[in-house]
Amino acid sequence: MEWYPGHMAKTKKSLLENIFLIDIIIELLDARIPMSSKNPDIAKLAADKHRILLLNKCDMANSNITQQWINFFDYQNVFAISSLTNHGFNRLNETIDKISKERMERLKQRGRVFKPTRVMIVGIPNVGKSTFINRFVKKNIAKAANRPGVTLHKQWIKLRKDIELLDTPGILSPKLNEPNAFANLAITGAIKQYDVYNTAVDLITRLQEVDERIIKTKLNIDLSDSNEILNQFAINRCILKRHGECDLEKAAAVLLDEFRNCKLGSISLERPIIYSQF
Ligand code: G4P
Repeated sequence: MEWYPGHMAKTKKSLLENIFLIDIIIELLDARIPMSSKNPDIAKLAADKHRILLLNKCDMANSNITQQWINFFDYQNVFAISSLTNHGFNRLNETIDKISKERMERLKQRGRVFKPTRVMIVGIPNVGKSTFINRFVKKNIAKAANRPGVTLHKQWIKLRKDIELLDTPGILSPKLNEPNAFANLAITGAIKQYDVYNTAVDLITRLQEVDERIIKTKLNIDLSDSNEILNQFAINRCILKRHGECDLEKAAAVLLDEFRNCKLGSISLERPIIYSQF
């Protein structure tokens, strides 16, 4: 099943129009939910491109599990990255430089004219594409800015003499084929239209699956039923309506907010072990 609201159709068209101009596709995934944030169609669309897979928001995920995901993906170039803390950007730049140099060498050997290596960022909504582009450009423009002739084109950002970045990212639609994909995307904020109460209950269930200690240690609740846990969370935090009964809708929103702001810790909601069984 594919989730693709009308307003994204235009962006998909632009992705298809631009992809033939590109040499390197950088695909961003959410390190907390690599499977749910992956759109497998990009493999076909970018079959003849160099591909770099980035597990973004690695500061929000469990670092051991992120390493397991890096081992799981059958890619030559897969890194954990944080567009917030800058983690992983040096390695990424080294990889892009290497690919670009090899490409230039091939062009030279074939007697072809010099053409800059063109890079495009793709990923589902909210995975961090804009934040990544801002960080990536700042880091690279800073390096190149002292050289004469560095200009910002309308559509292509010239990072160095041989590398250009398409300034608008390609937006991919989340695929909802994986079990729990909708819930995972709603929990992390990639899908904006969801039922708040049920999503918070899903979050509690997921937390129990990934590490049963989290509910006890972070929420100080010693119960096992997800609905009862949310009720107790509302009581503990005094999230009550006027007549004293629990405001479960508000409690659900608070819990989701705390997860999204890492107040419960850096938590991966998906583990590769489940997928390697298939
Ligand atoms: P998009 O272009 O792919 O749609 O995503 P965007 O850059 O807008 O980023 C979505 C949210 O994710 C932003 O938070 C942004 O700050 C955050 N983000 C991006 N990369 C990272 C990262 O590596 N680490 C962390 N911790 N956060 C990251 P926001 O403005 O609060 O938006 P929202 O989450 O309230 O929607």
